[in-house]
Amino acid sequence: MLIEKNYATINKNAYFDKGEAINMPEENVRKKVVLSGIQPSGIPHLGNYIGAIRNWKRMEDEFDCLYMIANMHSITVRQDPAKLRRQTYEGFATLLAAGLDPEKSILFVQNQVPAHAELAWILNCYTMFGEMSRMTQFKDKSAKNAENINVGLFTYPVLMAADILLYQADAVPVGADQKQHVEIARDIAQRFNSIYGDTFTLPEPYIPEAGARIMSLADPDKKMSKSDDNPNACVLVSDSKDDIIRKFRRAVTDSGSEVRRGEGKSGINNLITIYSVASGKSAEEVEREFEGKGYGDFKLACGEAVADFLRPFRENIDRYMADKAHLDALFKLGAERAARIARRTVEKAEKRVGFIKKP
Ligand code: TRP
Repeated sequence: MLIEKNYATINKNAYFDKGEAINMPEENVRKKVVLSGIQPSGIPHLGNYIGAIRNWKRMEDEFDCLYMIANMHSITVRQDPAKLRRQTYEGFATLLAAGLDPEKSILFVQNQVPAHAELAWILNCYTMFGEMSRMTQFKDKSAKNAENINVGLFTYPVLMAADILLYQADAVPVGADQKQHVEIARDIAQRFNSIYGDTFTLPEPYIPEAGARIMSLADPDKKMSKSDDNPNACVLVSDSKDDIIRKFRRAVTDSGSEVRRGEGKSGINNLITIYSVASGKSAEEVEREFEGKGYGDFKLACGEAVADFLRPFRENIDRYMADKAHLDALFKLGAERAARIARRTVEKAEKRVGFIKKP
């Protein structure tokens, strides 16, 4: 769970609401700030939706949330410009379709808030070459992309640290693969604070519970991923009902026959998780419902439940995508609200390192 801190004593001038630099009265304890980002990789798949985006919605009431489309991170690998632009809209439409409220949470596109690039440069100078070389994702990605190991890919975690520290985020919901990046953001913040005095809140990674980890339908020991070579491995939110049913019918299961969770039954465990989320029933209820029935019946039921579960979400994405002007207006709203907060942090950091105030 999220860490408890005495919020009345930190960030008194980082009052989130409306981003105004007001001094909070001592007794007015602020809500914790949650920030997360998602790269614009187009229409999400079932795992993205269940594992990440739906959780973001759940945090909206309890925390002051900022959610960002991380398009600056995207260009660390080569992108088609028109496609990146379209996917940025789709990413934003996805957040809205998941029910996030653009007036309550701050929803924005990373490149539209210049402070991200500004702070990233400063933080680059407080991050060690060795630290970055040890990042697992950098090692993986540079092995996969041997022809384009650019410096942006190398310093990717520094930009991510800027994303987080700009908003004095307390908690950063991420998948397990991004935990190391949040930890390095914390290290960088700590280093800067110890030289210049308190400037940044130290963030904590927040990894949602394991139940929400959706695995590939073709190889249930691997995470569901859009880049899987097997098209049946991954259910896209944009898939038709027929496609979804077909993919579940082909889902890989073990040689057993009972719809019951168990050791070494990663295929059926995954399907039970998925069915449970899609139907809103607990895993025990699912096991009871399919008592005496075979895998075939269960897979069909999974396909139908998932298709019904995803339909309203997909229709909402389509509806938002049909009105670009509305999305542009929301980009503007989000960028302005984010920039107001981010600017304060950047100006503080600039002053601390000895920069001359911007005119
Ligand atoms: N790197 C993250 C990913 O690929 C996306 C991201 C960018 C992010 N900036 C962030 C996540 C800040 C959390 C906080 O999944």
